[in-house]
Amino acid sequence: MHDRRDFLKTTATAASLMAISSFPLAAAADMKFKNIIYTQADPGRWEGKQGAHVPQVQITGSKVAVVTKHPMSNDHFIVRHTLVLSNGTYVGSKTFTPADKPESEYTLPAGYKGKFYVTSFCNLHDFWLAEATA
Ligand SMILES: [Fe+2]
Repeated sequence: MHDRRDFLKTTATAASLMAISSFPLAAAADMKFKNIIYTQADPGRWEGKQGAHVPQVQITGSKVAVVTKHPMSNDHFIVRHTLVLSNGTYVGSKTFTPADKPESEYTLPAGYKGKFYVTSFCNLHDFWLAEATA
């Protein structure tokens, strides 16, 4: 038996979990993270820079290839990619130097079906987020 207090705790916890699981693009879309997290749909102050900053995702079976179509120079380069599942599970990341190509590869958990998120960080143009579905 739950009393009203337990019910409220349970409800608040469930709501928090829902908020976390749907966090990234929803949060960006409702402007909570405007000019903090950049997306194709909301490039904020970096309007027009989506093509070189939104990470591109190619899924082949359980393999995910991520590319940011961004030039790499000592002054301006992609620093890092990261892939996280929609439930928050960290899958992997790769850190780049200006001499690298901004490309990375990951393996999704066996049989994974669902959304995941890929981030790409530019040293001058901040933190970009893309969503994909396996
Ligand atoms: Fe950039």
